Amino acid sequence: MSAARGEGREPLRVVQFTTGNVGRRSVLAVLANPALELVGCHAWSPDKVGRDVGELCGVDPVGVTATDDVEALLALAPDCAVYNPKFPDVDTLVRLLEAGIDVVSTSVFITGRSWGDDKARIAAACAAGGATMFGTGMNPGFANLLGIVSAGVCDRVDSITVLESVDSTGYDSPDTDRAVGFGRPIDDPGLPAMTEEGTAVFGDAVELMAGALGLELDDIVCVPEYARTTEHLDMGSWSIDADCVAGVAGSWQGIYEGRPVVELKFCWRKGGTLEPDWRVEHGYIVEVAGRPSVHTKLQIFPPEDFEATSFADYMVLGMIMTSLPAINAIPAVVAAPPGIATYLDLPLPTPSGWVPSGG
Ligand SMILES: NC(=O)c1ccc[n+]([C@@H]2O[C@H](COP(=O)([O-])OP(=O)(O)OC[C@H]3O[C@@H](n4cnc5c(N)ncnc54)[C@H](OP(=O)(O)O)[C@@H]3O)[C@@H](O)[C@H]2O)c1
Repeated sequence: MSAARGEGREPLRVVQFTTGNVGRRSVLAVLANPALELVGCHAWSPDKVGRDVGELCGVDPVGVTATDDVEALLALAPDCAVYNPKFPDVDTLVRLLEAGIDVVSTSVFITGRSWGDDKARIAAACAAGGATMFGTGMNPGFANLLGIVSAGVCDRVDSITVLESVDSTGYDSPDTDRAVGFGRPIDDPGLPAMTEEGTAVFGDAVELMAGALGLELDDIVCVPEYARTTEHLDMGSWSIDADCVAGVAGSWQGIYEGRPVVELKFCWRKGGTLEPDWRVEHGYIVEVAGRPSVHTKLQIFPPEDFEATSFADYMVLGMIMTSLPAINAIPAVVAAPPGIATYLDLPLPTPSGWVPSGG
């Protein structure tokens, strides 16, 4: 890898939290980037404790052992923690931040709006420790930055819509999917409340984008939709019964003067027996209505040397693009003043250190 970012500077010392779908990609990215050094790793699963982190991530041993001892990780005094657990633990985040350790997270944090009182705890911990908390991912996260950047050529913005439209059959995180309504009976009256709670971080992303437009929103609302699978759907680690939810779509809307000005839409489908049979765009689409109106589409493709034998293998690309916005932000987050930081506070995070050299 290129030495561009690390050149002339000590690498930033990083502690990793978890080696799940996203966490594994974070570990591999930290190991590969000369500006970063992996000094510790937290394991949530008891059977991962005591194992080499390289082994947990499918590569050769790296000499760092996973631990469940947060105190031991604090004692390493890392510059930054990369935080990728399935569900965030506010107590642990507070301990990190109070100890002066900056955090980059993909675990449902953007502005903290949806965290209620816990937002104030995070902000207080940042102030106490002189640390910075930054949350991103692909969506929410980078996709919202794409929306903001796309509107940067307009002298009038009527609305910005960002749509994530993907087939997520290969995403192996059943609890995360169940939390937004997947697998529930299609006529379950509790579904809308469940989706609103499970996707609440998209409301934060709406707040972020409204902030970029210089707006104080009147309201932020979630409008969900569902599709069922007509047959039993087996995805390996879990399954969805016939007539249960295998498609979750929604629109998080930022209302300003009675109309949606920022809209964050998602359309997630699983399997080939969806009713209605939602067409997915396999990417991220930004529509800016304004002068000019702007259409931006972000699509990803495997590189020629990418080896995949199953649909699930391709999900690695999705996990890379979830992890890297956080990894690439580390230098800016470490340099940022204390507090909760968003893309509106940081200089442009750059993809530095990723150009292969030496053939
Ligand atoms: N913004 C985006 O674009 C985006 C996209 C995808 C995911 N995400 C978020 O990123 C985070 C990681 O996603 P993922 O797919 O990597 O998740 P995952 O693989 O399902 O779980 C990640 C790790 O969390 C730990 N864990 C397991 N059960 C847990 C529980 N009940 N409470 C807390 N931690 C638990 C485990 O850690 P060990 O490995 O240590 O055992 C697991 O490997 C999630 O919060 C997810 O919502 C964001």
